[in-house]
Amino acid sequence: MTELIEKLCKTGDLSDNELKMLIADTAVQTAELLAKRADEVRRKYYGNKVFLRGLIEISSYCKNDCLYCGIRRSCKSAERYRLDRQQILDCADIGYKLGLRTFVMQGGEDAFFTDDYMCGIISELRQRYPDCAITLSLGERSAESYRKMKEAGADRYLLRHETASQELYSKIHPAEMRLDNRIKCLYNLKETGFQTGSGFMVGVPFQTADDIIKDIRFLQELQPHMIGIGPFIPHKDTPFRNEKGGTLSLTLRLLGILRLMFPKVLLPATTALGTISPVGRELGLKTGCNVIMPNISPEDARKKYNLYDNKLISGGETAEGISLLKAEIEAAGYEIADERGDCVK
Ligand code: 5AD
Repeated sequence: MTELIEKLCKTGDLSDNELKMLIADTAVQTAELLAKRADEVRRKYYGNKVFLRGLIEISSYCKNDCLYCGIRRSCKSAERYRLDRQQILDCADIGYKLGLRTFVMQGGEDAFFTDDYMCGIISELRQRYPDCAITLSLGERSAESYRKMKEAGADRYLLRHETASQELYSKIHPAEMRLDNRIKCLYNLKETGFQTGSGFMVGVPFQTADDIIKDIRFLQELQPHMIGIGPFIPHKDTPFRNEKGGTLSLTLRLLGILRLMFPKVLLPATTALGTISPVGRELGLKTGCNVIMPNISPEDARKKYNLYDNKLISGGETAEGISLLKAEIEAAGYEIADERGDCVK
């Protein structure tokens, strides 16, 4: 496997078959070499910096019914809430004082958050924090909506494609959701000038190695600025309650491969990765990740925004949370950056 990793490192690409071999290889030496090379590449462009993004979960209402997700419309046990303008601004204020320089407003697809309402919040944040990046993660919206929010001052948008396989997409989403529309949204976001993030879940039910190859090929086409991947984790009140979750080792292999294929991408060690293993995020950082997204939602919201079971809810909301995170990052051999952390050119 050594030759494959070195080839990937040198050329930034592999054939489908080579990728499949690498993805399937559970040997410890493979994981170690991938991590070593991924870490070298990440250091080349980003040094030892880890960028923090303050995550504000603005709504647990969602009109969609994705089979894997704990806030899907038909999940009866999900407690619904939405933050109002003032609560969102208060979260950002706390985050700013904690040193965060990117705010991510994420939520289910909730019609309450109209373009006008969002633009009002975005322009207020833009004015208050000229040195911060504003990231949105609000799902599929019209090209017009993306344009308005960009003009109001938003910089980045996260929208995972979830899976680039038509067949798998239709097994994990209801019929009214379309992969083509999601892909259209991603290209619209890029055209609008957003730094755009996409990504997929690892180990979602029915996913095969071929599906993962499709995800990688799609990302190569899209060339996003940010790639978010994390293990699928079952949620007890969804149709996938009895399915197996994605593994730490496969997620790490994919993170290493993605770092080698996309040397400059912003790659988070996700909350899901931290949820399946106490050392998940640390291993992620050591395998090419350079972003962590501490949660700065109010405590009550954090408890209700349950995409999957046992979500890690500790983290960034307090000075103590941030200093623990800082210790974790430093123990892994990195340091927290005190800047917006845009994608390098
Ligand atoms: N396990 C892991 N990740 C999930 N997401 C949604 N449900 C789950 C789950 N059960 C991810 C999706 C979505 C992101 C916000 O959270 O990929 O894009």
